[in-house]
Amino acid sequence: MSTPTGRLLTLAAAVASTAVAVLASAGPSDAARQPALPGIPASDARLIDGYRSWLPLARPPVASLAGLGSAHSADRKRIYVNRTRAQLRRRGRAGVPHAPGTVVVKELRVDDFIEAIAIMRKTRASADGGWTWVEYKRSSGSAPFRRLQLSGSFCNGCHVQATRVQRTDGVFWRLR
Ligand code: HEC
Repeated sequence: MSTPTGRLLTLAAAVASTAVAVLASAGPSDAARQPALPGIPASDARLIDGYRSWLPLARPPVASLAGLGSAHSADRKRIYVNRTRAQLRRRGRAGVPHAPGTVVVKELRVDDFIEAIAIMRKTRASADGGWTWVEYKRSSGSAPFRRLQLSGSFCNGCHVQATRVQRTDGVFWRLR
């Protein structure tokens, strides 16, 4: 088939088989794959890019603080920090106080979709923790995320309990 139409068909077949190969290689087994987060502004999307491959904070807060978690109700929560275990350990037993530049992300799932992304970013070393706060939420798996209009002092006002009770610098979840 050397007619222009024939060449076009051969090309189309090649493109189709490449697409199949790409789809097959990006299987759902790859838990670290970055999920799509429509509506999250580029600056924050960049900040948390690749968070699924960051270090998990998988140890929940102490029992006396667990009730405060109703502020973030969800079927499933995953928490990650953009630091290595070694970097945290160098800062002491609990890895705190966190260094400026530390980012903690929480992914909240409801049913089978990501309902919210909460981010705390250490912007300065300070007595009040020095964290900057933002949370994005959506109503369904196909809706875009919207920023919750809650002030940082609202978030911080509760997260200081992590410092008071656990001495974990405003972060409730801990390293296992
Ligand atoms: C009434 C208390 C309360 C308020 C208000 C609150 N949080 Fe939290 N947050 C918690 C608790 C308790 C946890 C740990 C348990 C859990 O994940 O549900 C937590 C966990 C987190 C985590 C995971 C890291 C960690 O500290 O364990 C992030 C990120 C987070 N919250 C962000 C926010 C942001 C952003 C806001 C404000 C929009 C906010 N939180 C408001 C209580 C609160």
